[in-house]
Order: sequence, then C-alpha cells, then structure tokens
Amino acid sequence: MITLYLRKTDIRFLLILFLSFKFHSCEDAINTLFEQINEATVKFNRLGAEIAWQYSVDPNDAGLTRRSADYQLERIVWQQRSCEVVEGLHEQGALNVTQQRQAHLLCRGPKFTYEEARAMSNLYDGLLTIYSNAAVCVPNISNVADGLSHEAVIKQYLVKLNRFAKVDGRNVSLKTDKNAPKREAIFCIKGEEEFDKLMKTSKDPEVLEFVWKIWREDTRYMRAPFRELVNVQNEAARRNGYTNIGEFWRDELEIDDLRTFCRRLYQSVKPLYELVHGVVRFYLRQRYGDVVSARGPIPAHLLGNLWSYNWEPLAEFIIPKTIDLDDRMKSLNWTVIDMVKRADDFYISLGLPAMTETFWSKSLMTRVNDNERCHGTAADMFKDGDFRLLYCSGTSFEDFSVLHHEMGHIQYYMAYQHRPGLFRQANTALHESVGDAIMYGVRTPQHLHRIRLLNDTELFDVNNNNKINKNVRKTTVKMVNAHRIYKNNIESDTNRIAAFIDDSDVGDISTDDILILKQALNKLPQIPFSLLIDEYRWRYFEGSLDENSLNRHFWDMVRELQGVVPPERRGEEYFDVGAVFHVADNTPYIRYFLSSFLQHQLFESLCRASVRGRRPRWMPAKWDLLRCDIYGSKVAGKILKDLMSRGSSQPWRQILEETIGESNISATSLNTYYRPLYKLLTRLVQKYSIPIGW
Ligand SMILES: *[C@@H]1O[C@H](CO)[C@@H](O)[C@H](O)[C@H]1NC(C)=O
Ligand SMILES: [Zn+2]
Repeated sequence: MITLYLRKTDIRFLLILFLSFKFHSCEDAINTLFEQINEATVKFNRLGAEIAWQYSVDPNDAGLTRRSADYQLERIVWQQRSCEVVEGLHEQGALNVTQQRQAHLLCRGPKFTYEEARAMSNLYDGLLTIYSNAAVCVPNISNVADGLSHEAVIKQYLVKLNRFAKVDGRNVSLKTDKNAPKREAIFCIKGEEEFDKLMKTSKDPEVLEFVWKIWREDTRYMRAPFRELVNVQNEAARRNGYTNIGEFWRDELEIDDLRTFCRRLYQSVKPLYELVHGVVRFYLRQRYGDVVSARGPIPAHLLGNLWSYNWEPLAEFIIPKTIDLDDRMKSLNWTVIDMVKRADDFYISLGLPAMTETFWSKSLMTRVNDNERCHGTAADMFKDGDFRLLYCSGTSFEDFSVLHHEMGHIQYYMAYQHRPGLFRQANTALHESVGDAIMYGVRTPQHLHRIRLLNDTELFDVNNNNKINKNVRKTTVKMVNAHRIYKNNIESDTNRIAAFIDDSDVGDISTDDILILKQALNKLPQIPFSLLIDEYRWRYFEGSLDENSLNRHFWDMVRELQGVVPPERRGEEYFDVGAVFHVADNTPYIRYFLSSFLQHQLFESLCRASVRGRRPRWMPAKWDLLRCDIYGSKVAGKILKDLMSRGSSQPWRQILEETIGESNISATSLNTYYRPLYKLLTRLVQKYSIPIGW
C-alpha cells in the first residue's frame, strides 16, 4: 500500500511499481494515492484554517507561533514529496484528466523552504500589526463639551494646532502620541472601520485631510518588511519556474496574458467611469471650491472613502433628494444578527442551504475587544458544517452588503464541500462574484421594499424618462462614442455656469435613478482601484519600479487609472500602497477587478433565469436589470449551485460556459446594467457642460 507520508523510498517504489506493471492494479494504486493526497489536503487546510482563525481573533495567543511553525514544516515536507511523486507519474503519462488537474493544483505556486516560510510568517505578522494598529489620539481640549462627535473634536484640535503653528512659525507634526498621559481626556480613532467611518461622514475638508494623512502615517514602516516579503516570495516562486511571484499570482487565474486582458476590460468601462468621475468632480467643486480643479484629477480625501474607491456618500451632493438606507435601517432597529438573518433568508429563498449551526455559534460578527483583526473574512474550516464569518459589523447598508458578500463565499464552501480536497477551492474571481451578484438582487426596489427599506410610494415611483430624458433622447448615442462627443462639448466656462445651477428639474428624479446612482458611486470606482493595486504590485514584484521613487510611481498610477491625486505631495518617506488591507495582508487583488465584471454577468444570467424560469439565450435588448427581482427564484439558485459546486474541478471558462453560457469576462452586462444611469448622467453633462476626463 502507498502511505500518505511518502519517504524517498516510497517514491522510488511507486515509480518502479508503475513502470513494471502497466495494468489494472497500478491504476488502482494511483487512484488510492490521489485519494490520500486529497484527504491530506483537507487535513492540512483544516489545521491552517484553525491557526489563521486564532491569529485573527487573538493575535497574542502564546502557543500560536509554535503551532504555526510545526504546521508549516509538516505541510511543506508533505507537499513537496507528494508533488515529486505525482509529477513523476505525470511524466510517465499515467494520470487521467482529473488527476492531471489535481496534480497541477497541488504543485503550482511558490516553493518555500521551511526557513523562508518562517520568515514569511514573521514579515506578514509585522505588516499586519502595523496595519491594524493605525490609530490617532487627539487631546480633548478642555472647552470642548462632552458628547461631541469625533469630527467636532478633531476640528477643535486642528483649529488650535493651526493657531500654534502660526504663533511659532513652524510646522506642527500631525502625529500625536498614542500613549499620551491620561490626565487629559483624549479621543482616539483606531482601526480601518473608525477611520473610514469618518471619511464617509465628515464633509469638512480639513478633518478629511487630517484623517486621510494620519491613516497613512505608520504605513511608511511597511516599506522595508514589504521589500523583504517580496524577495522571499520571488525566491520561492523562481524555485518553481516562475520569473517572480507576480507571474504566479496571474497564472493562478488561468487567463492568458492577464495584463492585456485587464487593460482591455478597463478600456471598455472607461467611458462610463469618466462620466461618473466628471459629474462627481463637478459637484465636489460646487461644494469645496477651487481645491477641486475643473478638469483635472480629484483630491483623494474628498471622495467619501479612505481609499477613494467608494463614492456612495457623495450621492447627496449630486441629487437633491436621496434615500438614506442607513437611516432607515437604524429606524427599524436592525441588529447585526437581524442583518445576517436577512442575508441568509435571501440565499435560502433561492433554494440554497441555510447557514449551519456552527456558523451561528462560532462566527464573530461584532467587535468583542480591541485585539481582533476583523477585516471581513469568511472561513472554511474544512470540518463538517464548520463555516464561519469574521467581521466586526456595524449596522449600515454597507455592512449589509459585506455580509451578503461573505455569505456568498460560505455558500461556495458549502456547495463544493463534497468534492475532493484539491477541488475545494475556486477561481478567485468567481469566488468573489457570488455574494456581489446576489447583492444586485437585494438592491432592487422590490426587495428593498420587501425588507421595509422602501415605502410603497417609492416602490411605485417608476422612471418617468419622458420628462427626464427629453434632451437626451435626440442624442441617444452609443456608449463608446458618447464620451468623445462630450469632449467636444466642454468648451464653455464651467465656473460661470456653475453659479446658475438650479436643481428644479432634477426634482423629478425617481427611486430608480437614486438607487442606480448610489450603486454606481459605490461600485464603479472600485474598478480602476483594483486594477491599480495589482498592476502596481506586478511591477514591483518584477523589479521594474525604481526603489527610490516607489511612492511617486504609485501616485502616478493613481492619477492615470483613477483620476485621483493625493491632498499633498507624497514623498518617498511614505509607502502609501501599504495603506490598503490586501497589500498588508499579501493577498492578490485583481480578483476584485475581474469580479466587478463577472458579478454583472452572473446577475444578468440569474435574472434571465428568474424571469423566464429557465436559461434563455435570448432576451429583449432593452430591459431593466435594476428592477430584476430574483428573490425566491429556485432556477437562479440552481444555476448558482451548479456553478459553485464545481469548485476548481474545471477551468473557469468551461464552468462559465456550461452554467451561464458565457465563455469570457466582458463589460457587456455591466454596461447594460448602467444604461439608465448613463442617460441620467449624460443629461447632467449636457445641461451644465460638465467637462469629462482628467
Ligand atoms: C475576452 O475578453 C478579453 C477582454 O476584453 C479580450 O481581450 C479577449 O480577446 C476575449 N477573449 C475571447 C476568447 O473572446
Ligand atoms: Zn470576498
């Protein structure tokens, strides 16, 4: 019998076994070998998941380092030996198609030595510690009354700081002492949720700039450990035939020439992005004045988000009436548990399984103490029914979206749990798409009404485009051509025109208009952002960035791709890419870029199935995805289940083809979804001669 933990002699034995008997029993032996490899994979994944979970909930656990080291050693030895064996068999042509795929999944990736794996763990831990400990404490200046918001306290502090700065004639450091003596009451902001919350709610440019900068103060210390982390990974990647770790990251997605592929996708949504960008810039200029240029990139700190990738908080600048879903959730007194139950209910309505008992007992949904690292995570513990959520959730609509997103991962884990161990994973872009695709269903007016976030009047307030698009109708232009037309249309002086803005005819804006605008502000900026984060790292990994201008390169790319600039010149003493969780966490990001497109394709396909009760190839060209209520559609659920349960047993193209009938990732569904918005924004652009591009 072949044992699981193969020694060199076993390997030789197995090869001899194979070479000498070309018949039945050998096939059986190989099948058994693969069964054992798959079982061991599950066993190691289970151990790894337990350690990762423990790291997140209690990073200071004393025994953890030891356990983690033991685990790494055992896994490395096992994996490399198993790989040698299956690669030997593969060279002999002894593996069937399934086994070849499993061998590929088992043996791809960087090959770390034990020492490298340890070094990786330490560096990784160091980076995450820097990231998680970002904090600022501001003295609560004595004459500030209790009960003021963080924003107000910071404002007071800045006013005082400026006064001193003027008196002393020197620059006052923004950095305040975290360990300041406690004799003064101090206000502290700690962790990404609190920082981002301020970026989302404050409309004071000074406060925003302060919070934005402070968030990036400590990430400068990531520069050196990040360099080391990359060196170690490159070394290990080269050991397995990749030119650098970036090549493996791209390879993993199984898309040829991913860089060109992504650039093309970006180009195909750029007209839409530029339109949103131009309109947002125009209204920000109304609000904040000359600090926002008329035609250039937008200052990063004014975009309603710590990373400028979610502009939804700016909706109220653009439309006179909006629908504040956060407020409504508050007035309904939803708890986090209520939200999770509603998300669960949506998936169940599609005929998908309910969250397990262990999910409810083991998940961490709100912050218990200060130590947890709670960037939203869904964990597959590789144990019967043990799927967990880790997320320090608040009760905003954004939190509601995150919960659906993470639950999409858990549905995926459940769907492929009966597959062999090596197939219990999936193309990462697909994995990221499920929960977000579901979210389009949740954000339909019908479902929002169903869960009492919209009232009857709003539900029935359908688009009256006759009035709204009066001007646009004559110039119904194809999307791609449209922005060229705007470019010739922007000669007039926007400053002058801006003074005459009256929103009287934006007054008949419909519920659908509001919802789609909010959705676009939330989603579209993520597209250039996610491309940025990995294009930058790919260049870093391959060594094509000058070590002395790493930060400048970063901001050059931000400007090019996002049309955004930092609020001040950012020198090389900073390492601003490190202010992004997935950089500190060393997780690839391009999956989110691809998912931005895939999730629309998936949703469109679920929508078709829901409406037609099957999978039709053809649908009317003009239809309204925003109002496609898929809640309760068992057919949609069936398609999803079919797609998810395949795990990584096939390449993604084949899975997509066989489940939703598409074989590529494209912007078509996304552009269909946003067609009504395109019209709405076009109307604004024409009315106010808003410049487009940067
Ligand atoms: C798939 O889409 C990408 C990106 O738009 C494009 O570059 C590629 O040629 C397409 N591939 C096929 C096979 O259609
Ligand atoms: Zn995710």
